[in-house]
Amino acid sequence: MKANLREMLRKADDGGYAVPAFNYSDIWDFLAIMEAAEEERSPVILSSNPLVVEAIGPEMCGAIGAAAMGKASVPAIHHLDHSSSVSLCKTAIDNAYPSVMIDASAHELEKNIGMVKEVIAYARPKGVHVESELGRIKGRGIEGDYKDGDFLVVTEEAVRFVRETGTDSLAIGIGTAHGFYAGKPEIDFRRLKEVNDAVDTPLVLHGGTGIPREDVERAIRNGINKVNVGTIIHCTYMNSMREELAGLAENPYTLQVVKPVLAKIKEVVKGWIRVCMANGKA
Ligand code: 13P
Repeated sequence: MKANLREMLRKADDGGYAVPAFNYSDIWDFLAIMEAAEEERSPVILSSNPLVVEAIGPEMCGAIGAAAMGKASVPAIHHLDHSSSVSLCKTAIDNAYPSVMIDASAHELEKNIGMVKEVIAYARPKGVHVESELGRIKGRGIEGDYKDGDFLVVTEEAVRFVRETGTDSLAIGIGTAHGFYAGKPEIDFRRLKEVNDAVDTPLVLHGGTGIPREDVERAIRNGINKVNVGTIIHCTYMNSMREELAGLAENPYTLQVVKPVLAKIKEVVKGWIRVCMANGKA
Protein backbone atom coordinates (compact mmCIF):
# COMPACT_ATOMS: atom_id res chain seq x y z
CA MET A 1 0.00 0.00 0.00
CA LYS A 2 1.35 3.44 -0.90
CA ALA A 3 1.53 5.58 2.24
CA ASN A 4 2.42 9.19 2.91
CA LEU A 5 3.70 10.00 6.39
CA ARG A 6 2.69 13.65 6.30
CA GLU A 7 -0.86 12.55 5.50
CA MET A 8 -0.77 9.80 8.17
CA LEU A 9 0.29 12.29 10.84
CA ARG A 10 -2.32 14.82 9.77
CA LYS A 11 -5.05 12.18 10.01
CA ALA A 12 -3.77 11.20 13.46
CA ASP A 13 -3.89 14.84 14.55
CA ASP A 14 -7.47 15.20 13.30
CA GLY A 15 -8.50 11.85 14.76
CA GLY A 16 -7.01 12.29 18.25
CA TYR A 17 -4.56 9.37 18.10
CA ALA A 18 -0.85 8.92 17.38
CA VAL A 19 0.93 6.85 14.76
CA PRO A 20 3.09 4.33 16.64
CA ALA A 21 6.72 3.86 15.57
CA PHE A 22 8.48 0.67 16.63
CA ASN A 23 12.21 -0.03 16.52
CA TYR A 24 13.14 -3.36 14.99
CA SER A 25 16.47 -5.18 15.27
CA ASP A 26 16.15 -7.81 12.56
CA ILE A 27 13.73 -9.47 10.16
CA TRP A 28 11.85 -11.35 12.89
CA ASP A 29 10.76 -8.44 15.05
CA PHE A 30 10.24 -6.43 11.84
CA LEU A 31 7.69 -9.06 10.72
CA ALA A 32 6.10 -9.24 14.18
CA ILE A 33 5.53 -5.46 14.13
CA MET A 34 4.08 -5.59 10.62
CA GLU A 35 1.73 -8.49 11.42
CA ALA A 36 0.54 -6.86 14.64
CA ALA A 37 -0.25 -3.61 12.79
CA GLU A 38 -2.17 -5.48 10.10
CA GLU A 39 -4.16 -7.47 12.65
CA GLU A 40 -4.98 -4.29 14.59
CA ARG A 41 -5.68 -2.36 11.34
CA SER A 42 -3.27 0.34 12.46
CA PRO A 43 -1.00 2.67 10.53
CA VAL A 44 2.58 1.90 11.53
CA ILE A 45 6.16 3.13 11.32
CA LEU A 46 9.02 0.59 11.31
CA SER A 47 12.16 2.28 12.59
CA SER A 48 15.74 1.17 12.21
CA ASN A 49 18.36 2.86 14.32
CA PRO A 50 21.83 3.44 12.85
CA LEU A 51 23.32 0.40 14.62
CA VAL A 52 20.80 -1.87 12.92
CA VAL A 53 21.33 -0.21 9.53
CA GLU A 54 25.08 -0.62 9.94
CA ALA A 55 24.77 -4.29 10.97
CA ILE A 56 22.31 -5.36 8.25
CA GLY A 57 23.50 -2.88 5.65
CA PRO A 58 21.48 0.02 4.17
CA GLU A 59 20.83 -1.83 0.90
CA MET A 60 19.35 -4.86 2.66
CA CYS A 61 17.40 -2.77 5.20
CA GLY A 62 16.08 -0.54 2.42
CA ALA A 63 15.03 -3.52 0.29
CA ILE A 64 13.22 -5.23 3.18
CA GLY A 65 11.49 -1.98 4.08
CA ALA A 66 10.44 -1.32 0.49
CA ALA A 67 9.08 -4.85 0.06
CA ALA A 68 7.13 -4.64 3.32
CA MET A 69 5.66 -1.21 2.55
CA GLY A 70 4.54 -2.42 -0.87
CA LYS A 71 2.95 -5.56 0.52
CA ALA A 72 1.33 -4.03 3.63
CA SER A 73 -2.46 -3.83 3.81
CA VAL A 74 -2.17 -0.87 6.24
CA PRO A 75 -0.24 2.41 5.78
CA ALA A 76 3.34 1.47 6.70
CA ILE A 77 6.45 3.66 6.65
CA HIS A 78 10.06 2.53 6.90
CA HIS A 79 12.02 5.10 8.90
CA LEU A 80 15.65 5.78 9.82
CA ASP A 81 15.66 6.67 13.52
CA HIS A 82 18.12 8.95 15.34
CA SER A 83 20.79 9.42 12.73
CA SER A 84 23.31 11.96 13.93
CA SER A 85 24.92 11.75 10.49
CA VAL A 86 23.74 13.72 7.45
CA SER A 87 25.53 11.24 5.24
CA LEU A 88 23.66 8.23 6.71
CA CYS A 89 20.36 10.06 6.12
CA LYS A 90 21.33 10.52 2.46
CA THR A 91 22.31 6.83 2.20
CA ALA A 92 18.95 5.80 3.65
CA ILE A 93 17.14 8.08 1.19
CA ASP A 94 19.13 6.47 -1.64
CA ASN A 95 17.93 3.11 -0.36
CA ALA A 96 14.21 3.77 -0.54
CA TYR A 97 13.56 5.01 2.99
CA PRO A 98 10.53 7.34 2.75
CA SER A 99 11.35 8.89 6.14
CA VAL A 100 14.56 9.76 8.02
CA MET A 101 15.40 11.43 11.30
CA ILE A 102 18.39 13.72 11.51
CA ASP A 103 19.12 14.11 15.20
CA ALA A 104 21.47 17.05 15.56
CA SER A 105 20.09 17.98 18.99
CA ALA A 106 23.52 17.46 20.58
CA HIS A 107 24.73 20.54 18.68
CA GLU A 108 23.92 24.16 19.32
CA LEU A 109 20.88 25.59 17.54
CA GLU A 110 22.68 27.09 14.49
CA LYS A 111 24.43 23.84 13.66
CA ASN A 112 21.28 21.80 14.29
CA ILE A 113 19.38 24.05 11.84
CA GLY A 114 22.20 23.78 9.28
CA MET A 115 22.31 19.97 9.38
CA VAL A 116 18.52 19.64 9.14
CA LYS A 117 18.48 22.01 6.16
CA GLU A 118 21.10 19.90 4.42
CA VAL A 119 19.06 16.71 4.86
CA ILE A 120 15.86 18.46 3.78
CA ALA A 121 17.53 19.82 0.64
CA TYR A 122 18.35 16.22 -0.31
CA ALA A 123 15.05 14.69 0.85
CA ARG A 124 12.44 17.15 -0.45
CA PRO A 125 12.93 16.60 -4.20
CA LYS A 126 12.54 12.86 -3.56
CA GLY A 127 9.43 13.31 -1.43
CA VAL A 128 11.13 11.94 1.70
CA HIS A 129 9.86 12.96 5.15
CA VAL A 130 12.39 14.47 7.59
CA GLU A 131 12.07 14.38 11.39
CA SER A 132 14.45 16.42 13.54
CA GLU A 133 14.90 17.07 17.24
CA LEU A 134 14.97 20.01 19.64
CA GLY A 135 15.73 19.73 23.32
CA ARG A 136 17.16 16.35 24.33
CA ILE A 137 15.68 12.90 24.90
CA LYS A 138 17.25 11.70 28.13
CA GLY A 139 18.30 8.22 29.10
CA ARG A 140 20.81 5.53 28.47
CA GLY A 141 20.76 3.12 25.63
CA ILE A 142 21.48 2.53 22.00
CA GLU A 143 19.84 5.80 20.98
CA GLY A 144 22.24 7.82 23.10
CA ASP A 145 23.16 8.88 26.57
CA TYR A 146 21.99 12.18 27.98
CA LYS A 147 21.38 12.93 31.62
CA ASP A 148 21.84 16.68 32.04
CA GLY A 149 19.09 18.98 33.22
CA ASP A 150 18.75 21.31 30.23
CA PHE A 151 16.76 18.85 28.14
CA LEU A 152 13.58 20.91 27.70
CA VAL A 153 12.69 22.23 24.28
CA VAL A 154 12.57 26.06 24.23
CA THR A 155 9.37 27.24 22.56
CA GLU A 156 10.88 30.30 20.85
CA GLU A 157 13.64 28.10 19.45
CA ALA A 158 11.06 25.65 18.12
CA VAL A 159 9.28 28.48 16.28
CA ARG A 160 12.54 29.65 14.69
CA PHE A 161 13.69 26.09 13.97
CA VAL A 162 10.48 25.14 12.16
CA ARG A 163 10.46 28.41 10.21
CA GLU A 164 14.08 28.12 9.08
CA THR A 165 14.27 24.38 8.40
CA GLY A 166 10.73 23.47 7.28
CA THR A 167 11.15 20.16 9.14
CA ASP A 168 8.29 17.73 8.43
CA SER A 169 8.01 16.60 12.05
CA LEU A 170 9.74 17.51 15.30
CA ALA A 171 10.84 15.35 18.23
CA ILE A 172 10.89 17.41 21.40
CA GLY A 173 12.59 17.08 24.74
CA ILE A 174 9.85 17.28 27.37
CA GLY A 175 11.22 14.89 29.99
CA THR A 176 10.90 11.49 28.34
CA ALA A 177 13.89 9.16 28.17
CA HIS A 178 15.11 6.20 26.16
CA GLY A 179 15.19 2.91 28.05
CA PHE A 180 13.30 1.95 31.22
CA TYR A 181 12.38 4.70 33.70
CA ALA A 182 13.59 4.48 37.28
CA GLY A 183 10.28 5.96 38.51
CA LYS A 184 7.31 7.64 36.86
CA PRO A 185 8.49 9.86 33.98
CA GLU A 186 8.03 13.55 34.64
CA ILE A 187 6.67 14.94 31.43
CA ASP A 188 6.31 18.70 31.01
CA PHE A 189 2.84 18.77 29.44
CA ARG A 190 2.70 22.56 29.70
CA ARG A 191 5.75 22.93 27.52
CA LEU A 192 4.34 20.38 25.10
CA LYS A 193 1.11 22.34 24.74
CA GLU A 194 2.99 25.61 24.41
CA VAL A 195 5.12 24.25 21.55
CA ASN A 196 2.09 22.67 19.90
CA ASP A 197 0.23 25.99 20.03
CA ALA A 198 3.25 27.80 18.60
CA VAL A 199 4.11 25.54 15.64
CA ASP A 200 2.06 23.74 13.01
CA THR A 201 4.47 20.82 12.63
CA PRO A 202 3.58 17.29 13.84
CA LEU A 203 5.27 16.55 17.18
CA VAL A 204 6.98 13.29 18.12
CA LEU A 205 7.26 11.67 21.56
CA HIS A 206 10.40 9.57 22.03
CA GLY A 207 11.10 7.15 24.87
CA GLY A 208 7.72 5.39 24.83
CA THR A 209 8.74 2.33 26.88
CA GLY A 210 7.56 2.75 30.45
CA ILE A 211 5.37 5.83 29.97
CA PRO A 212 2.01 5.11 31.64
CA ARG A 213 -1.01 4.89 29.33
CA GLU A 214 -2.68 7.97 30.83
CA ASP A 215 0.43 10.05 30.17
CA VAL A 216 0.64 8.88 26.55
CA GLU A 217 -3.03 9.78 26.09
CA ARG A 218 -2.48 13.17 27.70
CA ALA A 219 0.54 13.78 25.45
CA ILE A 220 -1.57 12.92 22.40
CA ARG A 221 -4.33 15.29 23.57
CA ASN A 222 -1.69 18.02 23.91
CA GLY A 223 -0.27 17.65 20.42
CA ILE A 224 1.79 14.46 20.01
CA ASN A 225 1.15 12.75 16.65
CA LYS A 226 3.82 10.00 16.67
CA VAL A 227 4.98 7.84 19.59
CA ASN A 228 8.32 5.96 19.47
CA VAL A 229 8.67 2.62 21.22
CA GLY A 230 11.91 0.65 21.21
CA THR A 231 13.32 -0.84 24.42
CA ILE A 232 10.29 -2.98 25.25
CA ILE A 233 10.46 -4.53 21.77
CA HIS A 234 14.06 -5.72 21.92
CA CYS A 235 13.77 -6.70 25.61
CA THR A 236 10.64 -8.77 24.92
CA TYR A 237 12.46 -10.33 21.97
CA MET A 238 15.61 -11.28 23.90
CA ASN A 239 13.95 -12.26 27.20
CA SER A 240 11.31 -14.43 25.49
CA MET A 241 14.03 -16.07 23.46
CA ARG A 242 15.93 -16.90 26.62
CA GLU A 243 12.77 -18.43 28.12
CA GLU A 244 11.99 -20.44 24.99
CA LEU A 245 15.52 -21.78 24.75
CA ALA A 246 15.53 -22.80 28.39
CA GLY A 247 12.64 -25.20 27.75
CA LEU A 248 14.19 -26.90 24.71
CA ALA A 249 16.64 -29.71 24.22
CA GLU A 250 19.98 -29.23 22.47
CA ASN A 251 20.08 -28.12 18.81
CA PRO A 252 16.58 -26.63 18.40
CA TYR A 253 15.56 -25.47 14.93
CA THR A 254 15.46 -21.68 14.53
CA LEU A 255 11.75 -21.39 13.75
CA GLN A 256 10.84 -23.58 16.71
CA VAL A 257 12.27 -20.82 18.93
CA VAL A 258 11.35 -17.83 16.84
CA LYS A 259 7.62 -18.49 16.34
CA PRO A 260 6.53 -18.34 20.01
CA VAL A 261 8.85 -15.37 20.53
CA LEU A 262 7.20 -13.50 17.67
CA ALA A 263 3.79 -14.12 19.21
CA LYS A 264 4.98 -12.40 22.40
CA ILE A 265 6.44 -9.43 20.51
CA LYS A 266 3.16 -9.07 18.61
CA GLU A 267 1.19 -8.86 21.86
CA VAL A 268 3.44 -6.04 23.10
CA VAL A 269 3.15 -4.19 19.78
CA LYS A 270 -0.64 -4.57 19.79
CA GLY A 271 -0.78 -3.20 23.32
CA TRP A 272 1.13 -0.11 22.26
CA ILE A 273 -1.01 0.36 19.17
CA ARG A 274 -4.04 0.50 21.50
CA VAL A 275 -2.27 2.89 23.88
CA CYS A 276 -1.72 5.17 20.87
CA MET A 277 -5.42 4.67 20.02
CA ALA A 278 -4.35 3.81 16.46
CA ASN A 279 -6.19 0.46 16.27
CA GLY A 280 -8.85 0.46 13.57
CA LYS A 281 -7.46 3.68 12.07
CA ALA A 282 -5.85 2.14 8.95
P1 13P B 1 12.27 3.60 24.17
O1 13P B 1 13.40 2.69 23.80
O2 13P B 1 12.44 4.22 25.50
O3 13P B 1 10.94 2.96 23.98
O4 13P B 1 12.35 4.82 23.12
C1 13P B 1 12.37 4.53 21.74
C2 13P B 1 12.64 5.74 20.94
O5 13P B 1 12.34 6.85 21.33
C3 13P B 1 13.26 5.54 19.62
O6 13P B 1 13.51 6.72 18.97
